[in-house]
Amino acid sequence: MEQQDDSGLSSVDMNRPSVARMYDYYLGGKDNYQVDRDAVDRVAQAMPEIRELAQENRAFLRRAVRYMARQGIRQFIDIGSGLPTVGNTHEIAQAVNPDARVVYVDNDPIVLAHGRALLASDDNTTVVTADMRRPAEVLEHPQTNALIDFDEPVAVLMIAMVHFLTAEERPAVMGQLRDALAPGSHITATHVTTDHKSPDAVAQIESIYATTPTPIYFRDHAEIARFFDGFDFVDPGLVTIDDWHPDRDDPAPEATGWLYGAVGRKN
Ligand SMILES: C[S@@+](CC[C@H](N)C(=O)[O-])C[C@H]1O[C@@H](n2cnc3c(N)ncnc32)[C@H](O)[C@@H]1O
Repeated sequence: MEQQDDSGLSSVDMNRPSVARMYDYYLGGKDNYQVDRDAVDRVAQAMPEIRELAQENRAFLRRAVRYMARQGIRQFIDIGSGLPTVGNTHEIAQAVNPDARVVYVDNDPIVLAHGRALLASDDNTTVVTADMRRPAEVLEHPQTNALIDFDEPVAVLMIAMVHFLTAEERPAVMGQLRDALAPGSHITATHVTTDHKSPDAVAQIESIYATTPTPIYFRDHAEIARFFDGFDFVDPGLVTIDDWHPDRDDPAPEATGWLYGAVGRKN
C-alpha cells in the first residue's frame, strides 16, 4: 500500500518494484530491495544486456552534458535524474563550467532523500520532487526558479525518461517544456526502441514495467523523433547512442542498439 507523508509525497513502497531502484541495481548500486532485484532478473531474461544498456546510457549522458556545457550552457534541469551515481550531471557540467547550476528532478522519494544527502554542500545544485507529466511542477517550483533564469539558455535532460510518456502525453509535456525555454536552449533524451529487436522481448519487458508505477513504451525511430518537435537536431541527429559523439577518452561498453538518443537545439 502506498503511503503519503505531510508533503503529499509518496513514501517508499517496498511491495512494488520502483524504476529508480531497478535502475540503481542495473548500475550496481545498493539502494534497492528484493522486489526490485526480482523484477530486474525478469527484465534480464528478455534483455541480457540490460547492465551494458544502463552503462552506455550513462556514458551518453556524460557526453551530451559535456557537449552542452561546451556550447556555453550554464543551467541544467535533469528530469528523472535517478539515484546519485558515479559521474552525476553537476560533476560533469561543473568540470567544464565551474559555476554551472543543476536542478535534479524526480518523483521517487528515495531520490530526494539520497540526493539531498549528496548535494547538500553545493549551493549551485538542488533536487526537487516533481512529476514530468506536469511540467509546471518542474518549471514553477521555487527551487527551480532560485537557480534557473529562463531568459537564458537552459539544457533539459530527459535521459531514459521520455519512454515513460504515452503518445497522448507527449505533445503537451514536450510543448510546455519547449515553450518555457529561451532560444539557444537544448534538450537531450534517450528512448528504448523496437527497431531491429525481438517483439517478444519488447512485450516481455513492457509487461514487467506495467507492474511498476511507471509503464514503459518501446518505439521506432520515427515515433521517437517526435519528442524533439520544435528543436533542430545537433549532428548526427537521432541515432543509436553509441553513434552519438563517441569519445575515446570516456569509452562506453559495447553497443546494445536498444537506445536512440539525440540533442536538439531551440532556435
Ligand atoms: C531509468 S531512470 C533514469 C535515470 C537517469 N536519467 C539516467 O538516465 O541515468 C528513470 C528515473 O525517472 C524517474 N521517473 C519516472 N517517471 C517519472 C515522472 N513521471 N516524473 C519524474 N521522475 C520520474 C524514476 O524515479 C527514475 O529515477
